[in-house]
Amino acid sequence: MKPVIQRISQISPDQSVICILGSDQIPERLKLTKEEIDFAQTQIQAKEEFIFINSYGRCTYLIRLKEGIAHYKIREELRRTAYNLKKLLKENNHSELVITSEKAYKGAIEDFTEGLLLSIYSFDKYKTKAGKDDKKYYPKKLLVQGQIEESEIKWLIDLTDAVYFTRNLIREPVNQLNAISLSEEIKKIGDSAGFKVEVLTKGKIEALKMGGLLAVNKGSVDPPVFCILEWNPANCLNKNPIILVGKGIVYDTGGLNIKTGEFMAGMNGDMAGAAIVTGVLHTIAKSGIPLHIIGLIPSTDNRPGGNAYTQGDIITMYNKMSVEIGNTDAEGRLILADAISYASKYAPELIIDIATLTGSAAMTFGNQAIAVMTNADRKYINLLEECGNDVYERIAELPFWDEYGELLKSDVADLRNVGGREAGAIIAGKFLEQFAEFPLIHMDIAGTEMLKKDDFYRLKNGAASGLRLLSAFLRRIAADYSEKN
Ligand code: BES
Ligand code: ZN
Ligand code: ZN
Repeated sequence: MKPVIQRISQISPDQSVICILGSDQIPERLKLTKEEIDFAQTQIQAKEEFIFINSYGRCTYLIRLKEGIAHYKIREELRRTAYNLKKLLKENNHSELVITSEKAYKGAIEDFTEGLLLSIYSFDKYKTKAGKDDKKYYPKKLLVQGQIEESEIKWLIDLTDAVYFTRNLIREPVNQLNAISLSEEIKKIGDSAGFKVEVLTKGKIEALKMGGLLAVNKGSVDPPVFCILEWNPANCLNKNPIILVGKGIVYDTGGLNIKTGEFMAGMNGDMAGAAIVTGVLHTIAKSGIPLHIIGLIPSTDNRPGGNAYTQGDIITMYNKMSVEIGNTDAEGRLILADAISYASKYAPELIIDIATLTGSAAMTFGNQAIAVMTNADRKYINLLEECGNDVYERIAELPFWDEYGELLKSDVADLRNVGGREAGAIIAGKFLEQFAEFPLIHMDIAGTEMLKKDDFYRLKNGAASGLRLLSAFLRRIAADYSEKN
């Protein structure tokens, strides 16, 4: 369960407190005894970064900010400290916990609280028996006190709510969440957050001739869906919408080019892009960001069943281009390509797609950077990079030269869906670019999303990588628009 976040104006003497210190001063409002203050002071002099005071009945945790590193790194250290503290916090069974700061940078309370919320997430909906640990619990209430603005508290709640449900969706196995049920979940989220959701079902997808999505769906007994999410507030500042496209493969077996065991594990999370786009729309709508944003989510499973598409098939995409199938495991680009050409009807300012697209992106950057390719104005990638550092979902750009696209030439069709063995992530990006009639940013999260072990608060089995980044990016775009007006 996600703890609730509330503001309090004063700390009462019996409350357990986390205090982030930006100086050596221990604030009086913590109401520590003389002995406790002396103890804390000695620890501070000894350059301890974390000080724990157990006053029987209540605990005080003092966290000292790192110094001498870039500001965005100080922020990240604080989020990581929250992760490192989670065990001790659970041991101490706080039903509520105050989070405050003293002489720390503006935003320190948010960063720590965010790190903590993301760290204590868990997915236990299918557990019917209590574990040995279950008598211990995390705080049910986080009480923020001091230097934090109301708008920031709201943003933090909306954003972390989104991370929680996005991670839940990513963890659902395909026997619990197929394309149809994913669309139902998206609809529910849209209804509660206040954005519009239209679900195109198989008949409509056929009528529209979305050949990429239909080809991937052929081996499945479940129908595909194409979801259109829209947030278009009356006060929106952009003339042309920004379109987010998310890969919604609810399970990727590889199709007839079937994956072997180790590579198939975790492929229920191949719809992370779709879940993340939903999470971003939720955050933007809940926070009332004045931008016209559209999310496009093509979704199906990729299976080798009955009439599955095969190597050598030639298909006609939504935009009428023909594609020769070189590998049925390169399915993500086929469904995304249809969505990217569908985006044209909105004449978007920018298209951003996010997808667990290639093993190659993971081989190139490991789990530390989202692979990004773009043909859009540099101002967008510069801003994305800055936001990436701020929220610590960092991006690394790959070259996007036209020569890479030549590897997709086919003897029999306009394009093949795979190139050779090399530069796989770039070739996938180049494939998508063929379908984009408007500026494109392509984000491949295959390396950052499906971690085998926790990387601090970026938890294994579905981190929702890129959700915080895209939310921050859009919030900044809106702020830049308002500044210009
Ligand atoms: N969903 C996979 C990519 C993936 C791999 C995501 C590992 C997360 C972790 C994608 O559909 C895929 O299978 N890509 C192939 C493309 C290849 C056939 C050109 C790949 O990367 O091996
Ligand atoms: Zn695949
Ligand atoms: Zn896939």
